[in-house]
Amino acid sequence: MLRRLYHEQPESFAFTPANLAWAEGQISKYPEARQASAIIPLLWRAQEQEGWLSRPAIEHVADMLGMDYIRALEVATFYFMFQLQPVGSVAHFQICGTLTCMICGAEDLIGVCKAKIAPNAFELSPDGKFSWEEVECLGACANAPMAQIGKDYYEDLTSERFAEIIDELAAGKLPVPGPQNGRYAAEPKSGLTTLKEFESGRAQYNGSVQRAVELGDTVKRIDGTEVPLATLWRARGANHRPAAGSVKLNETPVQAAPKSAIPSSVQAAPESRAEAVGKSKTRPAKAATPEPIKAATVPSKKPKILKSARKSGADDLKLIKGVGPKLEKMLHNMGFFHFDQVAAWTQGEVSWVDENLEGFKGRVSRDNWVEQAGLLAQGKETEFSARAKKGKVD
Ligand code: FES
Repeated sequence: MLRRLYHEQPESFAFTPANLAWAEGQISKYPEARQASAIIPLLWRAQEQEGWLSRPAIEHVADMLGMDYIRALEVATFYFMFQLQPVGSVAHFQICGTLTCMICGAEDLIGVCKAKIAPNAFELSPDGKFSWEEVECLGACANAPMAQIGKDYYEDLTSERFAEIIDELAAGKLPVPGPQNGRYAAEPKSGLTTLKEFESGRAQYNGSVQRAVELGDTVKRIDGTEVPLATLWRARGANHRPAAGSVKLNETPVQAAPKSAIPSSVQAAPESRAEAVGKSKTRPAKAATPEPIKAATVPSKKPKILKSARKSGADDLKLIKGVGPKLEKMLHNMGFFHFDQVAAWTQGEVSWVDENLEGFKGRVSRDNWVEQAGLLAQGKETEFSARAKKGKVD
């Protein structure tokens, strides 16, 4: 298939402040001069933010990574997961049309798309909310026929159920992903024949669906109005169980998290996705001018150091995930020997250490050393330190 840039392009693109911070974190994962390796996640985040990849977005990502525009364009045009034209403002439906799905009813699903959305693939529905395309096997053949909607799979579809799903999305609801015929996962439709002992006590949904319901971002743009995933996890705790049934788009887990745990910028989000999409009739829209990232405004400050380890001896800093022998030696040379030293670093001090770890810049933030060291300083274990003590890490 010939994949070209869309004939109508926005004037500019900019990541939202939260997405920019996220993108810079991704870039820091790679060594100097290898930043181009971050191109796929950055292009993907740009698409998650805008819904599709415009030329300014591709060029913006190329600039961030120090790449020639043509190299970034080659990536964007090669992978079909990147949408090079505006898609439906609420959802883009990807119908699997490969063998198993085709013999199980994919043509009927495509018929529903043609009738309810638009006669042709990639054509927007009259209200601009939906679009569709036929794609190759999505690897869920045991649950054929299926469609990917936004980030999630809807499986074991019938044309009737698929039409209902489109109607539910149009009404601002978020249908629960996964099998739509009562199956839990990909077991026989008549029920489990083996491993029955695992049936009782299992979660309400299979793993993929459970996570999708928890996140509630199936068709949501990552546009800065969402609660960061880490905040969500912390707020909900380990014993969270998702709510049953359909979730309203503007009742996603954002509101389920305690307000105190949600950044004020998110609490102040002016409108839900459902409201926002209703207003975005003119596409492509001009991207907002980014504000400076808060973290970057914190001045870096050198932490207090020790000339040598205390009499009790240095802690094994390699129990911090992300610290290997080379980094431990580097930390010793800088004057850091103990978990409580690392645990006490302020944000400015983290920035200073991050900047001064030659060849490992950004590691402190990336692996959250401060939080790990805090637990270790209290004599507690992290998942990594427990494995390291058993010799189960490389
Ligand atoms: S044939 Fe449709 S998911 Fe594999």
